[in-house]
Amino acid sequence: MSTENRTKCVVLGVTGGIAVYKACEILRLLQKRGIDVFVVMTKNATRFVSPLTFETLSGHPVAVDTFERPATWEVEHIALAKRADLFLIAPATANIMAKLANGIADDMLSTTALATRAPVMIAPAMNTGMWDNPATQQNLRTLEARGVQIIAPATGHLACGDSGAGKLEAVETIAERAVQALERRQDMRGLRVMVTAGPTREALDPVRYLSNRSSGKMGYAIAQAARERGAQVTLLTGPVAIPAPQGVEIVPFTTTMELLECAKARADGQDVIIQAAAPADYRAREIAAQKIKKQGGAGLTLELVENPDVAATLGERKRSGQTFVGFAAETQDAIAHAEDKLVRKNLDLIVANDVTRPGAGFDVDTNIVTMITRSAQMQLPLLSKADVAERILDQILALREQRRGD
Ligand code: PMT
Repeated sequence: MSTENRTKCVVLGVTGGIAVYKACEILRLLQKRGIDVFVVMTKNATRFVSPLTFETLSGHPVAVDTFERPATWEVEHIALAKRADLFLIAPATANIMAKLANGIADDMLSTTALATRAPVMIAPAMNTGMWDNPATQQNLRTLEARGVQIIAPATGHLACGDSGAGKLEAVETIAERAVQALERRQDMRGLRVMVTAGPTREALDPVRYLSNRSSGKMGYAIAQAARERGAQVTLLTGPVAIPAPQGVEIVPFTTTMELLECAKARADGQDVIIQAAAPADYRAREIAAQKIKKQGGAGLTLELVENPDVAATLGERKRSGQTFVGFAAETQDAIAHAEDKLVRKNLDLIVANDVTRPGAGFDVDTNIVTMITRSAQMQLPLLSKADVAERILDQILALREQRRGD
């Protein structure tokens, strides 16, 4: 049977906390959506709800101890790890987060989680103090950076009597997120993708800089879509005012020179590089040490020097097997300029946007682009930046497939 047609399987990891009883409802909600659910519990979870409850609801044996005789003659934790289309841990304690973050495998649940290649999603629930603890927050960041999907806990009155963050998110929300994750294509799994986004700021003096209108929306949409399609994503970001997508490594930069250094340091390890940032082409020759004063009506001449071209620099060092994508933000002759940049910067694909068109380019939620490769041109209609991102990723995968076939 093809993977697309078979019944999807969620392995539901249940760890010890008062919210364990809510996992029964999550299981039922997933089953209602036609999903087969297998449950793995920690020993502590079984103190709150008996495995028999989950066994009865799921119709499958519940795995608890690695050393119990397996219900089937497969090695049980490996069998479950392989069976999972999604590994969902709900509720997830601070303890399991720490184990996952550090690769500890000392019981059935942590061993299965370490072995699985399926996307992992966790819904933490714990006391507010434990959630806020820097150790838990550090573990959270580690897991996010590795692509674990986090369903952040809600804020409210907790079973321990405290109020604050730490309450398991609503079971309906958790089940919905799981369903969405199962429906998402995972066609970028195993690929390392680096995306650049946002503007640069080139200082003139301690309080002023040269910049542009890039909001980061286009690059962020690409980073998020690639992450959701299973890629391991590094997002190099200029100063922007939008929230970072979950599960991607964030590397901030301010100037074009900083972007160049960040990009060069990481480029070799990437399979795909997508440069949606708008780096400044020029910077001040000298940054004034003090705030530049008015010149008494005489006007002011700034001397600028050209910045290096990040895309062209990476293009020169491109190794075989890498796919490089650039953008071209144009105000006239968009296609001709983009074609020139495609070749000059040694790109495989360039995404041209005429930024003068309403609904296209800087600081809007939509874009109108033409994708240009060495052999074809594809003009897209007005789309949301999220949809443009999907189309660019589709094209990248098509190019990589084509190259494999050559
Ligand atoms: O951020 P948003 O508000 O969502 O807006 C999106 C966008 C308009 C910024 C985006 O769609 C876009 O077009 N990004 C590229 C902007 C740009 O710098 O275009 P360019 O034609 O000047 O540069 C061509 C390519 O070279 C780009 O991939 C750019 O990242 C890169 N470049 C440019 C200059 C430079 N010094 N180094 C570079 O690497």
